[in-house]
Amino acid sequence: MNKVTQPTAAIRHASRLAHEGHWKADGSANSKAPKWAKYRAEMRSEFPLPYRGGKDPLAEQIGKFVGKLDMLRPEKGGPAYLGDNAELTWTYPEVKDVKIAQEMGPIDDVLNGVVDMFQGLGNWGSPLTMCNVLPQGNTAAIMASMMAQVFAASLIEGEYSWNVQRAELESAGMLSNLVGWDAQKAGGLFTFGGTGCWLYGVKYGLTRVLPDSRKKGIRTDAKIICSEQAHYCQANCSDWSGLGEDNVIRVKTDIATNQMDLIDLERILKELTASKTPIAVVVCTMGTTDSSCFDPIGKVRTLLDRYPNPKGFGKTVIYADAVVGWSWIYFKDYDFIGNPLGFSDRILPILKQNGEMMKEIEHADCIGIDFHKVGYAPYISSLFLYKDADEFESLHRRGQDAYLQVRTPFNPMYYTLETSRTAQGALAAWATLKYFGIEGFQALLGGILETKYYLYDLLEKEPDMVCVNAEDTGLINLYRVYPKGVDAKAQYNKELTNPGGRPDLIKHNHLTEAVGNLLFEWYRTGKKIDGQFTPWMSFTTGFRTTEYNRDEHDSDEVVFALKSFPMNPYVTPEIMKHVVRCVQAARDDVMKSRVLAAA
Ligand SMILES: Cc1ncc(COP(=O)(O)O)c(C=O)c1O
Repeated sequence: MNKVTQPTAAIRHASRLAHEGHWKADGSANSKAPKWAKYRAEMRSEFPLPYRGGKDPLAEQIGKFVGKLDMLRPEKGGPAYLGDNAELTWTYPEVKDVKIAQEMGPIDDVLNGVVDMFQGLGNWGSPLTMCNVLPQGNTAAIMASMMAQVFAASLIEGEYSWNVQRAELESAGMLSNLVGWDAQKAGGLFTFGGTGCWLYGVKYGLTRVLPDSRKKGIRTDAKIICSEQAHYCQANCSDWSGLGEDNVIRVKTDIATNQMDLIDLERILKELTASKTPIAVVVCTMGTTDSSCFDPIGKVRTLLDRYPNPKGFGKTVIYADAVVGWSWIYFKDYDFIGNPLGFSDRILPILKQNGEMMKEIEHADCIGIDFHKVGYAPYISSLFLYKDADEFESLHRRGQDAYLQVRTPFNPMYYTLETSRTAQGALAAWATLKYFGIEGFQALLGGILETKYYLYDLLEKEPDMVCVNAEDTGLINLYRVYPKGVDAKAQYNKELTNPGGRPDLIKHNHLTEAVGNLLFEWYRTGKKIDGQFTPWMSFTTGFRTTEYNRDEHDSDEVVFALKSFPMNPYVTPEIMKHVVRCVQAARDDVMKSRVLAAA
């Protein structure tokens, strides 16, 4: 042990009496107390109270915050951002050059600074917000996750979360029952996003297939197989797991359905079997944001059983990335004949199809579920669910820890990636599941689909606009706007199917991008069309390839499209009509500025 060098001058300890003398009976500091004691006393008056009934600084601040939060919201009919200043108020990298103040700051100033940071932030609660799969959390979930912050329950193990562990255990149980697994045998962990779930899926595969990897590291180029539609976090997960991005094999997808192509998958399995290469994990994407696609997971399971890993390696794990699409499970047992919620005939077949696709998810070994996406819970609320808790937890089990003692039957500290784990996500998910019930969720989800098709019908009536994902069963509308006078439907069909349409495709892709960017600028600058603020939308620069670019030889032969994802329960038919008008107005502006530029 290193010897501590003592200073030559004598050390002055505060005597017991001197220490006691710093404080008054009510805990505040005496006037002669040293500065540290005065700071401490001031903080005491601003920390949440330990006991009920007094004047609680936390309750006081929450009270003030309710007002501040309300002031951040726009007036009725206001823009889709918070506050009254949509500008970015900082510059990079100068923003980083900031020092901590010497003295303690007044809490109100600090909290006003916090509120200020929300100025200009896109308002997920606005019905004009339809840019992505980012709903505002429901009130039950927001309150539940706030509890986790006030009383800091940590899901590391039982001592630090006690009965709050039920939030994780019961959420996993409710989801397992919904999927059709044995809930008592299954298990689940809340983790850091859909990417965290993917990483857990990869790790499960590596640990099962290459058991020595836990101690000796990954010494075999085992493979991750996923489709071309798989989320780009496949790169993060293969890289960060140490397996390496080159060990990811992308299976072709069907051009119409975007599903994993089973013929291509079988070709890959044959090759890997011949070269005695093990597969750690096959990832089935069960729902994507833009082109809603569900890989045929049941058939993938059957195929995989025919091509087991070579001797000496464990069985391949199937991970279902359902972080976006998971909530369709709610329709797997819906009574489509009786239709108790009264959905329109238009959307019933879609609900049925999605429910049936999701029924197959029971074939997975593990599933990723994001409540902060189509679950209306606040960030971050991601559940990694596994079918065989005994297997998963024992495979990843580490030894005893001197630091923590076992106090309840549930001790994830022994097998999770994280050490401390917030209970925020689990509580938000639990509150959401309990609050919505089955029918509430079905109503919310079906409601988005009804709105989507309402917009689709509006687009059908507009000669210069075309919906480009009409066959998709997802929640999003993707569409293009063409110059006035162009028959958008015929023109798009030509650009999609005929190689001769390539120059026009590219020209109109540029138009789509320009319209998307102008709409973003309008939303940011508070522009009004017909006296109403413009929506917050977005666009994709390639949600699919053209039919003459199936092998993706040409990166320009892809379809750009504007996006509307009307998730907000406050959305009305009037707002959707307004969206169409705004898109056309933006198109007119873009065309006008091009004519001017050419002149
Ligand atoms: C299919 C899919 N998987 C994974 C992710 C990553 O999720 P997260 O952003 O929560 O990490 C996303 C994000 O949109 C996704 O759509």
